[in-house]
Amino acid sequence: MQIQLDSQPYSQIQADAVVTYVFDRENKLDGVAGEIDRAMDGRLGLLAASGEITGKPLELALIHFPQGLGAQKLLVIGAGKPAKFTVADLRKIAGAAVRFLKTRGVKNMVFLTRESERGPDAAQAVVEGLIVADFESDKYRTDKKNREIQTVALAGFDGAQSAKLNEAIERGRVIADSQNFARDLINEPSNLLTPRMLAEKAEAMAKEVGLGIEILDERKINELKMGALIGVAQGSVEPPRVIVVRYVPETTPVGAPTLALVGKAVTFDTGGISIKPANNMEKMKYDMGGGATMLGAMRALAYLKPKVPVIAIIPATENMPGGRAQKPGDVQVAMSGKTIEVINTDAEGRLILADGITYAKKLGATHIIDAATLTGAIEVALANVHVGAFGTPREYLDQFLDSTKAVGEKMWPMPMDEEYQEMIKSNIADIRNTGSGKGGGAITGAWFLKEFAEDTPWIHLDIASTCWVDEGRPWLAKGPTGVAIRSIVDFAMKL
Ligand code: BES
Ligand code: ZN
Ligand code: ZN
Repeated sequence: MQIQLDSQPYSQIQADAVVTYVFDRENKLDGVAGEIDRAMDGRLGLLAASGEITGKPLELALIHFPQGLGAQKLLVIGAGKPAKFTVADLRKIAGAAVRFLKTRGVKNMVFLTRESERGPDAAQAVVEGLIVADFESDKYRTDKKNREIQTVALAGFDGAQSAKLNEAIERGRVIADSQNFARDLINEPSNLLTPRMLAEKAEAMAKEVGLGIEILDERKINELKMGALIGVAQGSVEPPRVIVVRYVPETTPVGAPTLALVGKAVTFDTGGISIKPANNMEKMKYDMGGGATMLGAMRALAYLKPKVPVIAIIPATENMPGGRAQKPGDVQVAMSGKTIEVINTDAEGRLILADGITYAKKLGATHIIDAATLTGAIEVALANVHVGAFGTPREYLDQFLDSTKAVGEKMWPMPMDEEYQEMIKSNIADIRNTGSGKGGGAITGAWFLKEFAEDTPWIHLDIASTCWVDEGRPWLAKGPTGVAIRSIVDFAMKL
């Protein structure tokens, strides 16, 4: 998809469709909408009067052969109340336009922003919306439809700011492409994405964008005594890997923090000996979503160049019930030396992250973010709306939540009170890998991770219910979402 600023009057840009949006303000068509209405001899106003165009969020009205415009089609999208409108809405509007028009033969479109959205933030959001919406999960279909929006002209922007706008467009492209890169990985079936194959893909990406990369194989993993990861991996014939990706800024200020991004990459989670039911088990190919998220974030950071060093650590394994698999009740010694009673082999994500977090600290991490499809319980708490965000100290989490708001990703802070820590005490080891009480499964999972992060500022994102959606949205295909990448990138850029 080619996206370019176009400073010509929008009515003169050659395209199949012009897209713009109207606010819900009692049918008053003003500014650009008023202008288009006048060119159409008041026909837009007639549609508004008849109730077809109300400005309700994401309402779509397609007008054919609009008078006064060069294009064959005019798509008018509802933007909601102007007082509530943010760039997050603009991102969705741009996305909805792509998803609607690509099924209607449109190849070239003009996206026209309104008077209130003429600056770089708006441009970045539009580009992100366009590219993320263009993603389809049809890689393995032999009858692909090949519907494609080839060019988008961005109109309505402030010509005096074109240098800043072009930078913003580039930023938007990098972030959205990185989000789609992660979504591609998340979509891969487990027979085509084993831990070794994931490592190869990470390597190819790192080489392409100029990041450092090191792959720890089973020998190195043994040498480092990553007992929690080994315990999970031993049930599979596929060997585990730990993927370590490094971004180093040109000059690192003394005393600069080092951010570590630790991502769960279970390329398939059968549950192990505590095996999962067959129903929906195929979805467990996306149990590497946390790892893919961190690879996507690293890809973006390679281009955006934050001021501080960033390391991604991605433990990758299958969770299988093979003859050598660990069994409920087994005790494993994690890399940190802590002993873990494995009550349920299906709570494997926290085990591999335990060693990932310990390794991050060994590599000098001063700040940690982990992302994981960790618990079904987070869906009970927050459905598929918010990512569950945990962290200590609280100020560190709050700082991260500021980034989530800035980029329009919904995340909700979850409690970390010590009562929950009690629930992972074991009778025979230091800790157990499931909560002993009733409920609070996402929180006891987080507490398990904190036992390894200890006092290092740490954030845990439980993306189990948000990394994948079963139903498409007007601005997003069903399947992998790429959630959390934008927030992590924004946070790293501000550190
Ligand atoms: N990968 C699952 C969590 C999951 C569930 C991800 C649904 C995406 C959708 C994780 O490894 C798991 O099985 N967690 C268990 C933990 C329990 C045994 C304490 C769970 O949530 O049931
Ligand atoms: Zn599991
Ligand atoms: Zn899992």
